[in-house]
Amino acid sequence: MKKVFLIVGARPNFMKISPIIDEMKKCKDKFIPILVHTGQHYDYEMSKNFFDDLELPEPDIYLGVGSGTHAEQTAKVMLEFEKVCIKEKPNLIIVVGDVNSTLACAIVAAKLCIPLAHIEAGLRSFDKTMPEEINRKITDSLSDYLFTHCEDANNNLINEGISKEKIFFVGNVMIDTLIKSKIKIQKSKIIKKLNIKDYGLVTLHRPSNVDDKNTFLEIIHSLIEIGKHIQLIFPVHPRTQKQINLFNFNKYFLENSIIPIQPLGYIDFLALMMNAKFVLTDSGGIQEETTFLRIPCLTIRKNTERPITIYEGTNELVGTDKEKIVNTALNILTNGGKKGKIPKLWDGKSSKRIVEILK
Ligand code: UD1
Repeated sequence: MKKVFLIVGARPNFMKISPIIDEMKKCKDKFIPILVHTGQHYDYEMSKNFFDDLELPEPDIYLGVGSGTHAEQTAKVMLEFEKVCIKEKPNLIIVVGDVNSTLACAIVAAKLCIPLAHIEAGLRSFDKTMPEEINRKITDSLSDYLFTHCEDANNNLINEGISKEKIFFVGNVMIDTLIKSKIKIQKSKIIKKLNIKDYGLVTLHRPSNVDDKNTFLEIIHSLIEIGKHIQLIFPVHPRTQKQINLFNFNKYFLENSIIPIQPLGYIDFLALMMNAKFVLTDSGGIQEETTFLRIPCLTIRKNTERPITIYEGTNELVGTDKEKIVNTALNILTNGGKKGKIPKLWDGKSSKRIVEILK
């Protein structure tokens, strides 16, 4: 029997770990899965809501680290996680994605010589101003099992000198969750509740977009312009809300064309995504979910670590330039936008493949 720590910390981790726990629970004679929540995200809307929607068990271990600067947050996770690892002596640690909790737990695992698996390995934006790029590169360099969801990722890892034997192309675990949740998503009442019909969905939280006043304002002006043609629903991330308050930008959201709402849980958010005319976002995961759902996605960034969503999927990079954002969105309203195709192995069986390999 192997004791396996599965690490979650921030919102995009929950839907990636959920199908792995489900699969591990099917192998009761092989694994004891232990869910560790670092507490990087702690608000109900950013964490507990997802546990309920995804039917995740309560965390077995909660580190309660909360917010801080990058160094503070990473160091706090390391301090707390190391204690737990020394006490519990897990046989394997599984981390997902690229948030600070991923990096912190990976470093602790490597220093204690505990085997480390990274799910969603190999993604690269080649932009070191993104904190996630640093987290991804270091985590991959320390991992013993690197599970990838596209062939680009395999190539990136091989180019960095990581041995082929450690790399497993297994597909996209987030899509496992999406497929499993489809009926619940279809039953969501959020569209009725918001009383909307045709709309675009907006999410923004990257520091590069919302921490810089001029960039954020340019994006808001783009939204105002698009809002003259179609209503925009905008679930506001807490970081973004903080910046809106700081810059006194609330005044731009008084019209009925941009509707700011609280961050949503997984099911309601996916329901909004599934029925949107397009999604405007700077998130990573949303670029993949929209590709799977064949909903046009405009990514408000100058690069992406997920190029497959552009050359196979529905994604398009629009940067932060107002004219480009507005023209692309309006073009979709007229012409329907990209349809794309679903990438290889995004088929709902990725977590099964991962657990088979780990077995
Ligand atoms: C983090 C991840 C990012 C991911 C995003 C998804 C890192 C470096 N960044 O960014 O990759 O795309 O999560 O949401 O790990 N806050 C709250 N309540 C919460 C959590 C955060 O109010 O429950 C506020 C705090 O003011 C905090 C700020 O949001 O300082 C930023 O939170 P943090 O976890 O540091 O980064 P995110 O921007 O959420």
